[in-house]
Formats: sequence, C-alpha cells, structure tokens
Amino acid sequence: MKYYITTPLYYVNDLPHIGHAYTTIAADCIARYKRLKGFDVLFITGTDEHGQKIEQSAKEKGISPQELADTTSENFKKLWRRLNISYDDFIRTTSNRHKNTARYVFELIYKKDEIYYGKYEGNYCIPCESYIKEKTCPSCGRKSVFLSQPTYYFRLSKYKEALLSYFKENPRFIMPLIKVGEMENIVRNELMDLSITRKNLKWGIPVPIASDDVIYVWFEALTNYLTGAGFLEQQEKFEKYWPPDVHFVGKDILRFHTIIWPAMLIACELPLPKMVFGHGWWKVSEKKMSKSLGNVIGCQELLDDVGSDCLRYFLLRDLPFGLDGEFSYSALIQRLNSDLANDLGNLIARILTMANKYLFSIVPERADIPELRMAFEDVFKNMDNDFNELRFHLYLERVWHFINKCNKYIDKEKPWAISNKNRLSECLYGLLESLRLIALLISPIMPDAGEKVLQGLSHPEKALSWGFLQKGTKVLEPFHLFKRRQ
Ligand code: MSP
Repeated sequence: MKYYITTPLYYVNDLPHIGHAYTTIAADCIARYKRLKGFDVLFITGTDEHGQKIEQSAKEKGISPQELADTTSENFKKLWRRLNISYDDFIRTTSNRHKNTARYVFELIYKKDEIYYGKYEGNYCIPCESYIKEKTCPSCGRKSVFLSQPTYYFRLSKYKEALLSYFKENPRFIMPLIKVGEMENIVRNELMDLSITRKNLKWGIPVPIASDDVIYVWFEALTNYLTGAGFLEQQEKFEKYWPPDVHFVGKDILRFHTIIWPAMLIACELPLPKMVFGHGWWKVSEKKMSKSLGNVIGCQELLDDVGSDCLRYFLLRDLPFGLDGEFSYSALIQRLNSDLANDLGNLIARILTMANKYLFSIVPERADIPELRMAFEDVFKNMDNDFNELRFHLYLERVWHFINKCNKYIDKEKPWAISNKNRLSECLYGLLESLRLIALLISPIMPDAGEKVLQGLSHPEKALSWGFLQKGTKVLEPFHLFKRRQ
C-alpha cells in the first residue's frame, strides 16, 4: 500500500509564515496517519526558486537570486524541523534533478507538437506569477504589468474535453467539492493556450529549444512532483509511487494544479493525480496573510511561545480544512489552556500519578472497561473517514470526547477511594490503556506529545485496539506536557 502526498513548493522571496506552515502541517498529519496505518508513504515538499518575483526580491535585498534561494530554502528546512515535519524529500527547483525533469517534460511535449511559437501581449501578475486578463489581479488584488513578448505556447485550450471528463469520472479529484463548479467554469469558458516561456528574464531554466529564454516558472515548478517520485532517475520508485494520491495546495493555486498540471500530464501520457485539495486561508483583519499587506504572522515567535505541538493542534483544530479563518492569538492561548493543559495535560498527569501511587508504577492485569473502550472505538471507527475527508477538526473533537470521558471516569470512580484491590487494578488498567490509545490517536497531529506519553508507558505496542498494554510494563513518573498561560 503506497501513498504519495505533496505540498506546494514555496516561493523563496521571504520568510515562511503560518500560511505556509498550515499546508505543510496538514500534509504531515496525513503522512503520519497513513504510516500509522501501515502505508508506504512518500511525502515531499520544497521550494520554488525561479521567476521574476524572486529575481525582483533579490534585487531589492541587494543579493543574487541564488543567495536568496539558498538562505530562504534553509529557513524553510529549519522551520520544518522545528515543526516536526516528516518529509521524505525536499525539492529545490534550482537543483539539477529538477532542471532535468523540467527540460525533459518541455521537450517531450514539444515533440508531441503540443507546443507552438507565437506572441503574448497582455497582463502579468508578478506576485502570482500568472497571466491574467485584468489590470488588477483577481487573485491577490495587486497591479499587474503589461507583457509583450514572442513566446512558446502550450496548447492548453485543446484539453477542455479531456479535463472535463476527468473531473466527471473522478468526482474526488477537485476538493473540497464546493470548488468543482469554479474549476469547471474556468475550463468551459476561459481556457486559452498558455504562454510557457519568458523573454528578458535571466532567473529561470533555459528553454531547451531557445536557450536565451527561460521556462515559465509555473510550467517548470509543477514538474517537481514527477522529480519527487523518482522520474528519470529511479524507474522502480516512480512505478511504485506515481500518480500522487493527493496534492495539498491553498485555494489560490487550485487552478494551476487542477487545470494546467493535468493537461501537461495528459500531454506526456502519464497518469493524473487522484486528488488536489485546495484548503482555505488564514486571514488577519479579514485579509489573506501576505507579506505585501504587512499582516504576516511569523512562525518562530509563536513556536518560541507555545511550541510545535500546540501550534499544529491549533491550526488544525480551530478551522475546518477548506474554509477561511481569522487568526487569533487569544484563541490559540485559549486552546492551549483549556484543551491541552487542562483536558489532556491533566489527564496524563493524573493517570501517571495514580499508577505511581497505587500500582508502584507497574501495569496490572488486562481488563476491559467498556465505557472507556467504547469511547475509544467511537474515535477509531471514524478515523479513516475523518482523515480521508481531511476533517481534522472533527477528528480532534472526537479524540477530545474520549479524553474528557477519561477525565469524567476518574471523577466518577474516584480511584483514591476504592478499597477493593482488584477493582482498583481494573480501573487503573483501563485508564493506562486509554492513555496508550490517546497517545497513538494524537500522534499524527502532535508527534512530540504522542511520543512523550508512549515513552511514559515504556514504548508499548502501537496497535490501535483495546488491550495491548502488557501486564508488568513499567510506568514512568508523572509529568506536565503543557504549561498554562495567563
Ligand atoms: N510557488 C507556488 C506554488 C508552486 S507548486 C508547484 C506558490 N507558492 S507560495 O509560497 O506563494 O504559496 C504556497 C502555499 O502556501 C499556498 O498554496 C498555500 O498552500 C500556502 N499559503 C500561503 N499563504 C497562506 C495563507 N494566508 N493561509 C493558508 N495558506 C496559505 O504559490
């Protein structure tokens, strides 16, 4: 069972912010969940380093585009390390392996006569690196520039019927479903051939058949998904992982991934991705977070403040994946205090304290506590659905229902007042086993917390079913995973 998942390649014009982190965290959670379920996962991310926007940005900073790309891609890697992102590969578009794929794809499509020479006259949005009709970009709201250049065109308009029938035959290709109509409309009414080369731009991959020009940045960047799966270099790997199971993207770039990208793949006669999920935006003062609006929430400060698990939890818990949401620091702290420090953190400390006090830190005989087991099973039976439908917030709500059930069970049973030894053992086994299951259930979302709890239970088995905590297992000292804030 293989599972290939990707994030977009992030532009290297500036520091990563929580919008970038959001896509990557969500992809990481799915990758971790699939691994937990026994899938052989390939998870790739990376940086998009060419194009006019990067060239301009480097110029403003007084450095070369390559220097800018080197520094910023390192910043992304550092951030992903801090956020516990378990990617398998990091693709940089300035690497040779990526350049080779991009040029190969260009040539392949050219040989199939799907590329022709012409002239582009029209508007171009530099921040979105996108050809547009309007003077003001409908996607980012910024002013476009006018381009007049001889160019090579990809016969994109020819793919109208092929795309529409792929959408129809694969109803889960474009997700969330509310986006299908919008993409279909573009294909039906606005599909035009695409200018895929740029003149007078140095910072890019030279066009194989016209080396003074460079390949349009989107046309080359999209081919990274082939590179990541081993295209050209690792035949066996490619056969195993291709096509991608899901591309995670923000809704701003859904059309590149559901229209241009599949058309390119059809031209290359390669299988198409199974799903592209376009999630919503984190906004500040009702506007999409972006550097030029000056409303960016950086990640480092937040990570210093609340830590990786808390930030991961908050971003996936507070906003249904697919919708837009307003970022609020006080909502973050509220989640930290109530869900993490109170509900989860206290439960861990309470159970471990009792195990230390009443069981001398040794797991007793296996027992079935139906109300706790059933609370777990309730989460488990919905788990595949919740993850496959990208309903992180609902999944976490269910896990918290289980956590709160455990807290209530303690309040109700009052283990400290149970005099019957067997009864006490049963009750504490139920709680320790629940803790093992909770650790596993939270581990895709909060890998550090999951790991620490499993460590507290001396690394028990990872089976997602009741009763796998072994009698005689050593339980470690109690600890507090999360600190409350004022
Ligand atoms: N380089 C292109 C992608 C090429 S993929 C072959 C690009 N890069 S980007 O850095 O501008 O944005 C990448 C992604 O970051 C967006 O698609 C989205 O996933 C995420 N986000 C950027 N800002 C965001 C928010 N404010 N909120 C949520 N996600 C956002 O586009």
